[in-house]
Amino acid sequence: MTKSAKLTIGEKVIDLPIHSPTLGPDVLDIRKLYAEADVFTYDPGFTSTAACESTITYIDGDKGELLYRGYPIEQLAERSHYLEVCYLLLYGELPNAAQAADFEYRITRHTMLHEQIHYFFRGFRRDSHPMATMVGVVGAMSAFYHDSLDINDPWQREVAAIRMIAKLPTIAAMAYKYSIGQPFNYPQNHLDYAGNFLHMCFAVPAESYTVNPVLAKAMDRIMMLHADHEQNASTSTVRLAGSSGANPFACIAAGIACLWGPAHGGANQACLEMLREIGTVDRIPEYIRRAKDKDDPFRLMGFGHRVYKNFDPRAKVMKESADEVLGLLGIENNPTLQVAKELERIALEDEYFVSKKLYPNVDFYSGIILDAMGFPTSMFTPIFAISRTVGWISQWKEMIGDPTQKIGRPRQLYKGEKTRDYVDLRHR
Ligand code: CMC
Repeated sequence: MTKSAKLTIGEKVIDLPIHSPTLGPDVLDIRKLYAEADVFTYDPGFTSTAACESTITYIDGDKGELLYRGYPIEQLAERSHYLEVCYLLLYGELPNAAQAADFEYRITRHTMLHEQIHYFFRGFRRDSHPMATMVGVVGAMSAFYHDSLDINDPWQREVAAIRMIAKLPTIAAMAYKYSIGQPFNYPQNHLDYAGNFLHMCFAVPAESYTVNPVLAKAMDRIMMLHADHEQNASTSTVRLAGSSGANPFACIAAGIACLWGPAHGGANQACLEMLREIGTVDRIPEYIRRAKDKDDPFRLMGFGHRVYKNFDPRAKVMKESADEVLGLLGIENNPTLQVAKELERIALEDEYFVSKKLYPNVDFYSGIILDAMGFPTSMFTPIFAISRTVGWISQWKEMIGDPTQKIGRPRQLYKGEKTRDYVDLRHR
């Protein structure tokens, strides 16, 4: 039986259809509301609004569940790897052996950038944040790859997708190398995706560099855990930009810009900087007090999540990786880590954090791992951007193929002046 709800506004009763999803709460369809009742809905932050249909990722915030195309993130983290997850997100199913080999071949053969893009980097100041460089360079890709800009051509959409997944690590590594004044490293196609990224970031021409498999595995996991996350702020930004028909490179550049904010992808950088600022375990109570103070804008970075109100399943897996990496590098006792462990312990017991369901999120642990690997904090968000590119593209492709898709155009609750007449300057 089709479900519906009745909305009474004054004398008028409006029937609103209710859709039942595969998983999650029912969804009230208000598309005809304005036409039939002459009212808008008001939902800043979209806390109760589904903006699209999707089959890619599912999150149950209360259960702490994250599924990519139905597969639990814990199983993927244990048994899969990043490029396989990319295939799954993009095409909906796990690849068979031939499909996996073909996909990896196509990604690997697209890792190099157009040589002229190298000159583009030089226009940036050396002290530019790598995210600033990435927003610019990814946006500029639309000026280099004219054969993959037509969003109505499925082949061009496919090539654009492969190009971005393949080239984002190269761009991020170049942004990093540029910022520290070292020569760029070309991609090494005999390495896997994560290992190649580590090589491009850490190898120098004067020495040979061997990728540590434990670090490559941890990097692969970071990428996998960040690959998609449903309709978060940056993904919604990509969809909104794409809804106007903008080219895919411009859309992903918009996503990167949104991700940069400290409430979203920028939280991993902000979290590690906060741990360093706290510095020693004895200063933690002062920061906990500030986090609870309503008049202080300070928040404990790396804690809390809009959707996960029990635990962040990504954080659980990431914590295991953090222990593995720190054990390997023999730095379990560094001061930042001690602050992190103690902060986690206190916050998990503190009434304020427990009652508001504020748990460490994925960024709390990913920052610790990336720091241990030798990345500066400014590279944390670019690594998130590399990882999320496949999610953004999958969601963008899904949107283009959706027959109900329209240009995104929210309405507003206008509280400004009513119509008034212009007053000449001399009379003001
Ligand atoms: N420290 C202290 N108090 C907090 C925190 C925090 N990190 N997060 C939320 N609160 C409080 C907040 O003050 C509010 O209190 P009250 O009800 O008394 O007004 C309550 O908890 C609910 O917070 P909210 O701002 O309504 O929650 P939200 O769903 O809008 O925000 C969030 C989610 C992630 C933006 C927020 O928790 C936050 O700013 N966390 C720190 C930044 C961070 O770690 N972000 C990374 C998220 S995971 C990576 C990603 O997916 O992007």
